[in-house]
Amino acid sequence: MSAGLGVMRLFIIFMLGCLCPRQHCVQLEDWPDHADSQPRLLQLLQRIRLERHFETIVVYGRAPCVFHELLPQLELPTVLLANGSSLADWRFNSESTLLLCCGLSAEQEHNPHTLLRLQQARRLVQLAPKIRPRWLCAVYFAREQHNVAMLDARGNVYSCRLFQQPNYVQLVSFGSDSDSNSSSIYVQQYGNVQGAAIISEADQLMPRSMLFRNPSTGQLEMVGFVCNLINTFVRRLNATLKLRPDIELGKTIYYGIMERRVQGNELDVAASLTTTLTTNNMDYLSYPFVSTSYCFMIPLPARLPYKKIYTVIVEPLVLGVLLLLFLIFSLLLIYSQELSWRRLSLSQLLLNDRCLRGLLGQAFPWPQQASRHLKAICLLLCFASLMTTTMYESYLQSFFTHPPAESMLRSFADFRDSPYRIAVDRKEANRMLQSYNLTTDHARNAFILESWHEFVKMRDTFNASFIYPVTRLRWKSYNEQQKLFQEPMFYYSEDVCLHRFMLMCLPVRRHWPYRQLFENHMLSMWEFGVMQLWVRRAFYDMVQLNMTKLVDFSSGKPEEDAVYVRDLSWIFFFYVSANLLACICFAVEFCWGRYV
Ligand SMILES: *[C@@H]1O[C@H](CO)[C@@H](O)[C@H](O)[C@H]1NC(C)=O
Ligand SMILES: *[C@@H]1O[C@H](CO)[C@@H](O)[C@H](O)[C@H]1NC(C)=O
Ligand SMILES: *[C@@H]1O[C@H](CO)[C@@H](O)[C@H](O)[C@H]1NC(C)=O
Repeated sequence: MSAGLGVMRLFIIFMLGCLCPRQHCVQLEDWPDHADSQPRLLQLLQRIRLERHFETIVVYGRAPCVFHELLPQLELPTVLLANGSSLADWRFNSESTLLLCCGLSAEQEHNPHTLLRLQQARRLVQLAPKIRPRWLCAVYFAREQHNVAMLDARGNVYSCRLFQQPNYVQLVSFGSDSDSNSSSIYVQQYGNVQGAAIISEADQLMPRSMLFRNPSTGQLEMVGFVCNLINTFVRRLNATLKLRPDIELGKTIYYGIMERRVQGNELDVAASLTTTLTTNNMDYLSYPFVSTSYCFMIPLPARLPYKKIYTVIVEPLVLGVLLLLFLIFSLLLIYSQELSWRRLSLSQLLLNDRCLRGLLGQAFPWPQQASRHLKAICLLLCFASLMTTTMYESYLQSFFTHPPAESMLRSFADFRDSPYRIAVDRKEANRMLQSYNLTTDHARNAFILESWHEFVKMRDTFNASFIYPVTRLRWKSYNEQQKLFQEPMFYYSEDVCLHRFMLMCLPVRRHWPYRQLFENHMLSMWEFGVMQLWVRRAFYDMVQLNMTKLVDFSSGKPEEDAVYVRDLSWIFFFYVSANLLACICFAVEFCWGRYV
């Protein structure tokens, strides 16, 4: 060892003696053969880097500390957090970050966002003398930071192992050359969590999460496509699912309450779905689980009564065209008879007997010694009459077999003019209005319910006096249900929506250690098509659990096939009034003839 280095060492030890209060940090003089330790430490970091790549180093704690001495040799971007906490949110990749902590209390991260991002990062802690690895591991486990290795003054490396006894393993001996013990320093800890608890709760909103008591075991269990995701995850990790035992079966809980429970660390993951649109803190949400739209289910408009069908088929425009045709044909007939306008008069034009009968598809006298022009025009008249009578007849007959529906609601303005009101829960209304920057004045048409459970119950019973907000995801099972009715009752409006595209996430506790694994599990469930199967099966799960009553909520009145005399009242009215008109005309003509 050169003399220069010796002097340097002395200097450092002297400086440390002045700067470092004994109880706070590890004294470098504690480290045997200190100059020799640096290459070994670098070697250790190299090994960690080979295990899994890291690109950024964060050093928590104040100099002097073994890690600080390494800084010039690291040749990697390094963040020094001497006060143990960062002010700015962590924005680098947290997967490829290595944390070096100068002692147990060096890391005092107060920034919750950084804490979350760096929770899964690997930590290498400098172990002060007299501190047992078992104890230190327990401290880190209590903080839910599980990726921890430590380095003691003798150069031993320990790695914490959750779900094992003892809770750590000793790896390479730093002081010796033997690198024989080749097990990994950091391992995936959650492969088998040995029955550790995952606390969850179902919001009991069908069909995504339903709760029931298994009759054979007496245990509470949950099903539904969101619950299935959690159930399979629990099984995959060999964990145990813990549900609150005193929960009221069948009572739907508002998802905002589930969010609050997760934020209060009461639950690890809630079997519920919430949207990214109304939440401002994404730390409590999982990766987006599913996308959907949030629109309205609206009562299907009633069928037109038979009585009104006659008025529907007479379109003013078509009638106008027919009248125009009539005038043109009668003009042509008058002209082509003698190729002059001599016979033209108002009565001939408006009450042209031949033209009237021709257009109504009746027989009319064929003129004798007809010219070519006249024949051509009569032929045209025949074809026109064929078209119009066929058109009206087919209209009438098809409408009688299947009456058309009244017009659908296509905008919020239509909602206002309709007899329906929008049923909505108060909490949900406030949330929606907030996301639209609206106030309750805009929602005059709303029927506000005080309880979410009541709202869901009303929607579930297809109460057709209201319009309900519903997600497309839920609508699918409603639609499945109403296929069993005599006639469908609601339709899903794609025109009037609260949100046309919405990402739904599961509420997840901020520092839930399995978050990443859970998200991977979620993605693989989609990837293998299991999720699609669950969503498709949702309605049958509801039926199987007796959650949905196979009751026909529609009016149940079979469609009336017969046409009654009362349905023809308009026709009779027209008939009588036309006859009266004819009689009056006849009377006028009669009198006219007598006096002229
Ligand atoms: C670090 O802590 C010291 C004393 O506790 C304080 O004076 C200093 O301003 C802090 N530095 C930062 C960057 O917070
Ligand atoms: C590594 O070393 C520790 C203690 O030195 C020992 O308990 C463990 O079994 C070793 N592991 C392997 C894979 O050799
Ligand atoms: C699952 O965890 C239990 C403890 O709850 C344990 O006894 C069992 O061996 C574990 N299963 C497997 C396959 O490791």
